[in-house]
Amino acid sequence: MQRNCTLSVRVWRGKSEGAFQRFEVPRHPSQTVLDVVTYIQRALDPTLAYRFACRVGMCGSCAMTVNGVARWTCRTHVDKAIKNKNEITIGPLRNLPVIRDLVTDMSGFFDKWARAHGRFQGAQTKRDDFARVPPASPGRQLADAGIECIGCGVCYSACDVVSWNPDYLGPAALNRAWTLVKDERDAAGVERLRAVAGDAGCHSCHTHMSCTENCPKQISPTAAIAGLKRAVAAAAMRGQL
Ligand code: SF4
Ligand code: SF4
Ligand code: FES
Repeated sequence: MQRNCTLSVRVWRGKSEGAFQRFEVPRHPSQTVLDVVTYIQRALDPTLAYRFACRVGMCGSCAMTVNGVARWTCRTHVDKAIKNKNEITIGPLRNLPVIRDLVTDMSGFFDKWARAHGRFQGAQTKRDDFARVPPASPGRQLADAGIECIGCGVCYSACDVVSWNPDYLGPAALNRAWTLVKDERDAAGVERLRAVAGDAGCHSCHTHMSCTENCPKQISPTAAIAGLKRAVAAAAMRGQL
């Protein structure tokens, strides 16, 4: 990166109807896409709406579309995103309603976690001893593989099936359901499999892998969904669904 150079930034303004607005932003070493958006809002246009909280890849609130790819912007370096050009295009996440500028309405995304029965359902009481699940047990390893999801919506934004079928539960909700199916302490069992088995559930996944390729936490919702498909089929064969 040359000293004193600027970056030409196109930023989405408006709701679903709107246009890109261009800004010139000074470059810095190790600059992230979130740094760029923050500079625009603080120094050039305080009306720009965007969302972030932790700035360290934990909260999942800063996801946006960067040069056509869904990314967590606080951990995405400009150098990596622009690939030797000196311009960048930043928009809201795809597949979600735009509230304003770079802010999307995540309520439908999280409603689908609830529809997929994405909450732990225990069978123990507070008087019972702690459940001990050995870290090396197969179920624990499968559940742990997907447990680090930060709910950023990147996978959901990258999924074409969500675009074609807005009712589809999507990769994040299904990944969450799979971590609970494999959690041996959880008691929802067939109830959760029913929740993910319908037309909008795991069988709608076309195994495109876009979710897995884009997940910033290296989670594989595709593998989780494949596991759900097997579990749903096995339950159906047993006559439980
Ligand atoms: S699975 Fe990955 S991309 Fe999808 S919401 Fe979770 S952390 Fe984000
Ligand atoms: S693997 Fe399935 S959930 Fe993931 S992006 Fe493709 S269709 Fe969507
Ligand atoms: S601001 Fe929290 S993950 Fe980016």
